[in-house]
Amino acid sequence: MLEDVAGSPPLRSNEADLSTFWMPFTNNRFFKKNPRLLASASGMTYRTPDGAEILDGTAGLWCVNAGHARAEIVDAIARQAATLDFAPTFQLAHPQAFELASRLSAIMPAGLDRIFFTNSGSESADTSLKIALAYHLARGQGGRNRLIGRARGYHGTNFGGMAVGGIGGNRKGFQTQLPGVDHLSHTYRPADAFTRGQPAGGAAMADELEALIALHGAHTIAAVIVEPVAGSTGVLVPPVGYLERLREITRAHGILLIFDEVITGFGRVGAATASERFGVTPDLLNMAKGITNGTVPMGAVAVSRDVHDTIVNSAEPGIELFHGYTYSAHPVATAAALATLEIYERDGLFAHARALEDHWETAAHSLRGAPHVVDVRNFGLMAGIELAPRPGAPGARAMEVFHRCFDEGVLVRVTGDIIALSPPLIVTPAQIARIFEQIGKVLTDLA
Ligand SMILES: Cc1ncc(COP(=O)(O)O)c(C=O)c1O
Repeated sequence: MLEDVAGSPPLRSNEADLSTFWMPFTNNRFFKKNPRLLASASGMTYRTPDGAEILDGTAGLWCVNAGHARAEIVDAIARQAATLDFAPTFQLAHPQAFELASRLSAIMPAGLDRIFFTNSGSESADTSLKIALAYHLARGQGGRNRLIGRARGYHGTNFGGMAVGGIGGNRKGFQTQLPGVDHLSHTYRPADAFTRGQPAGGAAMADELEALIALHGAHTIAAVIVEPVAGSTGVLVPPVGYLERLREITRAHGILLIFDEVITGFGRVGAATASERFGVTPDLLNMAKGITNGTVPMGAVAVSRDVHDTIVNSAEPGIELFHGYTYSAHPVATAAALATLEIYERDGLFAHARALEDHWETAAHSLRGAPHVVDVRNFGLMAGIELAPRPGAPGARAMEVFHRCFDEGVLVRVTGDIIALSPPLIVTPAQIARIFEQIGKVLTDLA
C-alpha cells in the first residue's frame, strides 16, 4: 500500500522515513505526500516543527480537556515513573490505584462506585460488554447474551466495540463480527437541522427498543450500549426524553444499560458525566480520554454496586472475573489521572464548560447560512457542522476544510462531511470566535 509513496521526499532532510509508521484511521498515501506534523503543545496551542501555531479546536482527539502540558500532570508523571514505574495489578496492587478508584467513584453517578481499569476507550467498551455477560451468567440468566448497539454509534475498534458500533466503514471490511448483536436506529432526523441543544421527541424514538425486545425476547438480551451524545459520527444530540426512555425500558426488562462516556465524560457536556447532566443513571459507564487529560493511555468502566456484587459474590473461590490488562491501573497513568482530576476540581472546569455553553452555541450557529452548511448541532462544548457533500466525492469537502483550517492555524476534526469541534474546556470566548470565524472564512471560498 505504501509503495507509491516510499520514494516521496521526506518533509525535511533530517527527518525519519515517513513510510514506516502505518498511521491509524488515516489516508496514509495522501498523508505521506502531504504530512502535517505537530511538534509541541501548551495550553490551547499546538506548534508545528516549523513553529507555526495551531489553535486546538478538538482537545487533541476529544481528550485534552484541561489544555496541554499542565505542569501538575507533567510533574506527577515524572515523579511516578521515578518512584514506581510499573506494578502488576494481578494479585498485587499499588496504593494510587485504590485512591484513583475512590476519587473516580466520587464523581460518578450515585451507585456506580466499582471501577475496572483499562487502557483505552476500545478496551472500556469490550470490558463493559463482558461484564454485562458475566453479570447475567452470575444470576443464572446465561441465555442473555445478545448485545444491542445503535446505528452510527462508535465504541472503538476492538471486536466487541466494533460489533455494537454502527459506523459502516468501521465494520464492513471485517466480516467476523460478534454474533447476536442488533442495533437501534440512530437519532438523526433532517427535520431537526439547526436545533440548538436537544431536539424534541426522544421518548417515541427510544420506543424502538420495545420492538427489538419483542423480536428477540428480553430473556436473550444482556445490554444496550449507547453514547449519550454520539461524538465520532459527528455530534448527534439525544432528543429530549430519549435516554430517559431507554432507561425505563431496559430497567423494566432486566437489561443492563451501558453509557459510553469516553467523549462525554470529564466536563465535555458541562458536568462530570453526561449521565449527571441528563439525570439518567446507567448500570455501567465507560471512560477514557479525559481521564488523564490525554497524557497517558488509560480507560475505566464504572460499574454499579449490584452488578459488581452479583459477579463477585457468586463466583467460586478464586478469581471472580477472568478479564484484565497488564497495564490496568498502570502507576504512571494513575498518577496522571489523579493530577488531572485535581485540576478539573480545583479549576472548576466542568462548571466553566457549562458556563461557556451558551456562548459556544451562539458561535456555532453563526455558521448557519454559510456556504455548504446543512446543519449545526451542539451540546456542552461539542459542535457538529454538517456540510453538503460534493457530488460523487463524499467527505472531500470537509477534508479540505480540515486541511485549510490547519494551514491557517486552527485544528478542527472531520468525520465524513461533518466538522466536529470539541476544544479544551479552558477555551476563551475570543478563541471560540477565532475557531468559527476561521471555518466560516474557509467555507466562503470553498467549491
Ligand atoms: C464513545 C467512544 N468509545 C470508544 C472510543 C474508543 O476509544 P480509543 O480510541 O481510546 O480506543 C471512542 C474514541 O473516540 C469513543 O468516542
